[in-house]
Amino acid sequence: MKVKNKNYRAIWIEHQTVFMIDQNKLPFEFKIFKSKNMQTTCMAIKTMITRGAGSIGAAAGYAMLQAIYENKNEDLYLYLVKAKNIIDKTRPTAVNLFYATQRVLEASKISKEFAISEAYAIADECAEHGRLIGEYGADLIKDGFGVETHCNAGWLALVDYGSALSPIYSAHNAGKNIFVYVDETRPRSQGARLTAWELNQENIPHAIIPDNAGAHYMAKGKIDLFIAGADRIAKNGDVANKIGTLEKAIAAKYYGIPFYIAAPSSTIDLNTESGKSIPIEERSANEVLYYSGKLKSGKIEEMRIASPGSGALNPAFDVTPAELITGIITEKGIVKANKKEIKSLFNNDI
Ligand code: MRU
Repeated sequence: MKVKNKNYRAIWIEHQTVFMIDQNKLPFEFKIFKSKNMQTTCMAIKTMITRGAGSIGAAAGYAMLQAIYENKNEDLYLYLVKAKNIIDKTRPTAVNLFYATQRVLEASKISKEFAISEAYAIADECAEHGRLIGEYGADLIKDGFGVETHCNAGWLALVDYGSALSPIYSAHNAGKNIFVYVDETRPRSQGARLTAWELNQENIPHAIIPDNAGAHYMAKGKIDLFIAGADRIAKNGDVANKIGTLEKAIAAKYYGIPFYIAAPSSTIDLNTESGKSIPIEERSANEVLYYSGKLKSGKIEEMRIASPGSGALNPAFDVTPAELITGIITEKGIVKANKKEIKSLFNNDI
């Protein structure tokens, strides 16, 4: 996607250096973070310099590639098993991370060159899948629609195009008049900071709404469609996504609003039967207790916003049961959130 008329991906690689749009600096500064080794790429995933399931997967694939070049004389497969263990510990929920490290590891059994090409392919496929999700999903968005989305499932989160935002971009590019309600997504504010920034770049009409305002706008008839991304989809169609998705799905069901999940098939975890066994990341309480923003003076500062002395709980994701989901928009088409239709995406091969 374009930033100031220049094409960017959220993450890319040149030789062995990984380049990432620093998502912690957005929307106030547009900076590129460079990582020259596997450890630094792991740190970038952990600290959310790069984030969102697809971009995390691309980063994990590139980290494996860096490990390949860092290996001196050890057996490549054994060296990559160790690298995978380190990379897999960076974040627990988005399955694209494990998909990527496993894919490169498997490829290394064939050859070093194949493992390297797989690392490139993971990021390229992710971008292409985002584009196709946009094509399939755009038909769901009619002229004049109000569309609500949660967190950031745009191109920053998926290498390019995005998952939940890709159909919105396609519908907008097709000339449809749409308005996007952007959940702010406390505590990290991916909606207010990243989705809003993305939509601004594309001149798409939108407003940031407080996380607790979704049901209000649904009740008022402003929301025709809800589209969220996913960090992990279980075999039965349960979906782990950013905390707050579940209550939006419950409200959408109550008001009869179609609730779609957009995600590439690499976000489907065939080893997980249901949402009950998806690991949910617990992040630092400080993300809830402190907030950072740009002062009028231009200085970016962090301040405490909660009662001194109180602690906080900070689950990063929740699980939306399949029965609340109208459909899953993938790069292969739209399927129902159930085992049978999910199976059909993999040629019934599960
Ligand atoms: O914790 P994050 O910012 O990495 O969260 C992931 C997400 O961006 C969202 O859950 C998103 O909706 C799905 S990722 C395309």
